[in-house]
Amino acid sequence: LLYDESEVSEKCGELLRSLPKARGWMGAPPLYVYGGDWYYGGSLQGVLSTLKHFQPHDTDIILASVPKSGTTWLKAIGYSIVNRGKNGVGSEDKNPLLTNNPHDLVPFLELNLYAAKSVPDVTAIPPPRLFATHLSVRKMSAKYASCKVLYICRNPKDTFTSDWNFITRLRPPDEAAISVEEAFDMFCNGVNAFGPYWDHVLEYWNASLERPGSIMFLKYEDLIAQPHRHFVKIAEFLGCPFSEAEEAGGVVDEMVKLCSFDHLSGLEVNQSMTSKSLGAPNSIFFRRGGVGDSKNLLAPEMIDRLDRIAKERFSPLGLEF
Ligand code: A3P
Repeated sequence: LLYDESEVSEKCGELLRSLPKARGWMGAPPLYVYGGDWYYGGSLQGVLSTLKHFQPHDTDIILASVPKSGTTWLKAIGYSIVNRGKNGVGSEDKNPLLTNNPHDLVPFLELNLYAAKSVPDVTAIPPPRLFATHLSVRKMSAKYASCKVLYICRNPKDTFTSDWNFITRLRPPDEAAISVEEAFDMFCNGVNAFGPYWDHVLEYWNASLERPGSIMFLKYEDLIAQPHRHFVKIAEFLGCPFSEAEEAGGVVDEMVKLCSFDHLSGLEVNQSMTSKSLGAPNSIFFRRGGVGDSKNLLAPEMIDRLDRIAKERFSPLGLEF
């Protein structure tokens, strides 16, 4: 689990002891700042190993995201678009998404593959290899030189709300979660796992404007509003556009339905099983889904504060939520 520091290597432990830290959101486990980004101690080893050892291929597809912005959904979408027509993937009854949580089909670089002490051999995975990451574009820019990156983010109010709910469920059982107000203050000030949220989003936004053929910037809210249109755009971006026959045959609509919150959250695998790769109940990734849930958690003045920061930070660069 991302907060568990007990298994990190000696070298990583030494580094952790030298880093500035802040109170974490889950009780005792602190957040550490490394290279301008915040991490729980247990995830830093995977971060370092990814940056040191991961060798991207031109054909790789990286699904990057701010935590709690629709990563699970993006994994389902990327996986089903890229693998359609292969070995039964795409056919109704055999699709691996029916029996696997999306996190078990598309691994995170830093939280799964490179989290172990030994360096994994990922060379045998047939192209296109699909990986996911929460790492900032600042850290990953050299890795992104030749592959395609799909990035998803979400408005700050719902991202915070989803994150707070997630963390309170994921925290060690004997730890009390911090209050909404305290976590909220930290989020506003940029202290959250893989944050600052604000920099994460802005830097991917800028990178997508500079390299539109390599980095596609997606908003959760846009995908919710127009899923069909975005599935088509994503497939085009990834170089595997839907054919006219597929469009006419309803393949896109079927895929939208397959990946929808209602469908995935109702599957047995996502209701009652534990994620092999993340060690958490799969249901934790399907809390409620949708846009605007923040009004159920945040007071009006908190909503105003996030709107104000978003306006200050995002609007001048043309990014609106
Ligand atoms: P809520 O907590 O607001 O319900 P991530 O996958 O990055 O951890 O983000 C989790 C959020 O995405 C959760 O939001 C979850 O409900 C939502 N989500 C998961 N699967 C989804 C899907 N197929 N369609 C839309 N939203 C989804």
